[in-house]
Amino acid sequence: ALIPVILSGGSGTRMWPLSRAGYPKQFLALNGEHSLLQQTATRLQGLADVAAPIIITNQDQRFLVAEQLRAIHVAPQSLVLEPVGRNTAPAVAVAAVIAAQSDPEALLLVLPSDHVIEDTAKFRVLVDQARAAAGQGKLVTFGIQPTRAHTGYGYIRRNMPLAGAAGAYSVERFVEKPNAETAQQFVDEGNYYWNSGMFLFKASTYLAELERLQPEMLAQVKLAIDKGQRDLDFLRLDPEAFQACPSDSIDYAVMERTAQAAVLEAADLGWNDIGSWAALSEVAQHDEAGNNLIGDVLVENVSNSYIRTEGRMVAAIGVQDLVIVETTDAVLVAHKDHVQDVKKIVDRLQQAG
Ligand code: GDD
Ligand code: MG
Repeated sequence: ALIPVILSGGSGTRMWPLSRAGYPKQFLALNGEHSLLQQTATRLQGLADVAAPIIITNQDQRFLVAEQLRAIHVAPQSLVLEPVGRNTAPAVAVAAVIAAQSDPEALLLVLPSDHVIEDTAKFRVLVDQARAAAGQGKLVTFGIQPTRAHTGYGYIRRNMPLAGAAGAYSVERFVEKPNAETAQQFVDEGNYYWNSGMFLFKASTYLAELERLQPEMLAQVKLAIDKGQRDLDFLRLDPEAFQACPSDSIDYAVMERTAQAAVLEAADLGWNDIGSWAALSEVAQHDEAGNNLIGDVLVENVSNSYIRTEGRMVAAIGVQDLVIVETTDAVLVAHKDHVQDVKKIVDRLQQAG
């Protein structure tokens, strides 16, 4: 069977003031009725031979996750709670260990919960296509055609086509979050994809690579599960054991170092990471003036602006290229070219306590 593993532990500060420490990006309904987490779970419907998902999240978000899943009638086979975040490599390891207890050959479909994918039919076709390579013991990535030298992504250079796995290639190198200069070289060179952050592999493949590359991480994860506690529908990882686990992303800890990586070109997915308000405004519906107006918003002579209000009426006059986000206790006004710096404001708020 194929077991979806949904990672929902990120903090997503870039969508402040809507996202907060207690309410990260994946829980927000940014582009429609459902949150990004709900869209991730819903996207799985219609996949062939698919089991209920394993969901891994921070313990503080357990009720939020449970409630959002209930609302869309998704019952996870396991809802794993992390006492602290240890990044994605250990989170995926937890899922692999749990899955391998009943079937080491089970395919894990690792999914971030912070993306939009417009073409879900295409997504299902790609996942099906990736099964052959994963069955051969590959760690399959889904490569997105890069459009600019984004430094927040992993870059994958493809090599030869894989025998017996149509559409899949072996990977020559995987470089996580290169600097701007290197990213530009990769884009110019043309043989590179962005890593979409989704993966397909057998539980046994990932565990074997961890055993080789990150033995301490794997040992602590096993301990955290063994000493963990079942509580209602939740599996609580043992705090002491998980705290002692090395913290690293799957991209640095495994994908940059493994010889078993493969890549499948994920064209026409309508994939978007929604890393900022500007990125959201690109995928959201806009009017003829290029405005996205959400909630009680009035404009006069405004263009190319994203204006969202949760409560109070917002009026804007004679401005362009702005992001305005109103919430009960904070209002953001930013130029679209500077929305990355929202992070600086959040850092300052965190320092202030
Ligand atoms: N459970 C859990 N625990 N989930 C986590 C944790 C954790 O400690 N840390 C992050 N996540 C979740 C996030 O919520 C997100 O859904 C996913 O794992 C990926 O984490 P990000 O922190 O958003 O990673 P990234 O965006 O910087 O980079 C990854 O995604 C890019 C594409 O968006 C990498 O895989 C890159 O290579 C890739 O290009
Ligand atoms: Mg991300």
